[in-house]
Amino acid sequence: MRAGDTGAESPRPRQLNALRERVRALYQLNRQRGYATWCGVEYDFVCPSHGLYPFQWFWDSCFHAIVLSHLDIERAESEIRTLLANQQDDGFIAHVTFWQRELDDVDAYQVAWRSPWLSDSMQPPVLAEAIEAVARRGRGAAFLREVLPAARRYYDWCDHVRDPDRDGLISILDPHETGMDQSPAFDAYLGVQELTPAGFEAAWRRAVPADPAVPADPAVARERFSVEDVAVNALYAENQRVLAGLHAQLGEADAAAEMQARADRAADALFARCWDPADADFHGLAGPDEQPLPGSTVGGLLPALLVDAPAAVVARVAERLDDATDFGARYPVPSVSIAHPSYAAAPAEGKLLWRGPSWINTNWYLARAMRRHGREALARRIEDASMELVARSGFREHFNPQTGEGYGATDFSWSALVLDMLERRADEA
Ligand code: GLC
Repeated sequence: MRAGDTGAESPRPRQLNALRERVRALYQLNRQRGYATWCGVEYDFVCPSHGLYPFQWFWDSCFHAIVLSHLDIERAESEIRTLLANQQDDGFIAHVTFWQRELDDVDAYQVAWRSPWLSDSMQPPVLAEAIEAVARRGRGAAFLREVLPAARRYYDWCDHVRDPDRDGLISILDPHETGMDQSPAFDAYLGVQELTPAGFEAAWRRAVPADPAVPADPAVARERFSVEDVAVNALYAENQRVLAGLHAQLGEADAAAEMQARADRAADALFARCWDPADADFHGLAGPDEQPLPGSTVGGLLPALLVDAPAAVVARVAERLDDATDFGARYPVPSVSIAHPSYAAAPAEGKLLWRGPSWINTNWYLARAMRRHGREALARRIEDASMELVARSGFREHFNPQTGEGYGATDFSWSALVLDMLERRADEA
């Protein structure tokens, strides 16, 4: 039994034990367990929010597995096993699996469908990080041997299907696929004319028609909307590096070398082609002629996570995170720079996401990015603010960067990543 599992003799700080209990209760509330007759599979996962999001979302589930690795290794493993259960023959894993589709009016979900139970979209490929955390705190190589082949098939799908120009960067075919759904980075490319939920929706549907009868042909979809997105590719590079390490742990030297080469290629392409020294920002590349998209969104800070991020990039991201007129809000990190013309501290009509409010998952990445590159004080500031947000406003979906007010879903599971922040600190202390 690890330290912290029992209250009385725990050497861990009281704050950590209290948070563990809150997260345990949250993950009990959002636990979804059952038997899906449509595929003959038993499922057991944590949904993002039992009210608003009762199904299994890809990157949410990866974050939930990381949180569960501190609380209950068997459930952490089930979370990943359930995510992999409906992997398709080509390696694809859906961004939403509608295990219990009878729970909700799923036709209202604006997704492309691969089947009546699976969306036909991806989300940021953060699976390798989740597997690494669960293996490290649990059964190590035994768990890796079980899940690594499927994980590898997924990253091969990303490489084979989503990198048609073979530059090492993968393309998203729908803004949804960034997990940062209505980020203003895509406004001009989508042709958004009126910044209301309906105006955004109309532009979005023009670019990405969701016709349930027609599974998208990537080649056709690419003509309408295709972006080599900065955040997606930063996380892709990082996760391929992590995957290389997992192969190495199993003694699979050739596979490890291949993944490391792919990770390096993605990182090199990101720094060479998406970074613009003129404005010291990263820009996604849109369409066949790779037009740079506007920067100043939180996704553009994520390349600082990479171990080989150039010093100039790290320094610039740190400077922006410190600057109160840019990303250095009272409750960081806003999803859009405060200086951005479309920054809004509260979501418009509660519906347009990722246009200002702060999210705990990007905080989790950016704190780690800063610590990794020796900026401990900044990392702690982001973590402390994250914990304060959750303490004040609860596990909300996102938060006002100026007042800390919570918005969107309540009981939102990935906001429990604050537990991972605190556990890591306790491990280091
Ligand atoms: C919102 C978020 C997306 C997340 C989903 C479920 O759509 O933008 O990133 O996966 O909710 O929590």
